[in-house]
Amino acid sequence: MKISIINGPNLNLVGVREPEIYGHQSLAQYLDALVKKYPGVDFDLFQSNHEGAIIDEIQRVGFDCDGIVLNAGAYTHYSIAIADALRAVTAPAIEVHISDVQARESYRHVSMIKDACVTVIAGYGLDSYRRAVDYLINMKR
Ligand code: DQA
Repeated sequence: MKISIINGPNLNLVGVREPEIYGHQSLAQYLDALVKKYPGVDFDLFQSNHEGAIIDEIQRVGFDCDGIVLNAGAYTHYSIAIADALRAVTAPAIEVHISDVQARESYRHVSMIKDACVTVIAGYGLDSYRRAVDYLINMKR
């Protein structure tokens, strides 16, 4: 099984950025440990601060992998282009957030990409990623 984990802008700074919201652990370190917990899954990890690069990555992996775990960061709230890319490919995608976006500023309550995803998993800290991986594995069963 192939799962692609795609992270958008500023997620490379998790561990340093606003630790009261996103925690003290780096995302790279967390994902490294996560990958090791699933030896049967072939993971592809990608992060970019650029919208077009995220779209290129969705197009690159989206016809080939079994699922996409996507934390599009702030692009979640306004990128119709990322939503269109998700609709264009065949792999199911899960929208993921570290923080509970519904409990934050009102502009974070809006998701342009949620309707292009099978579900949204948010507010569990970094464990949101593990929950999304399990969701995709259970979908395949
Ligand atoms: C985030 C929530 C977004 O609103 C924010 O712009 C991020 C991170 C999260 O994981 O909680 O960059 O996607």
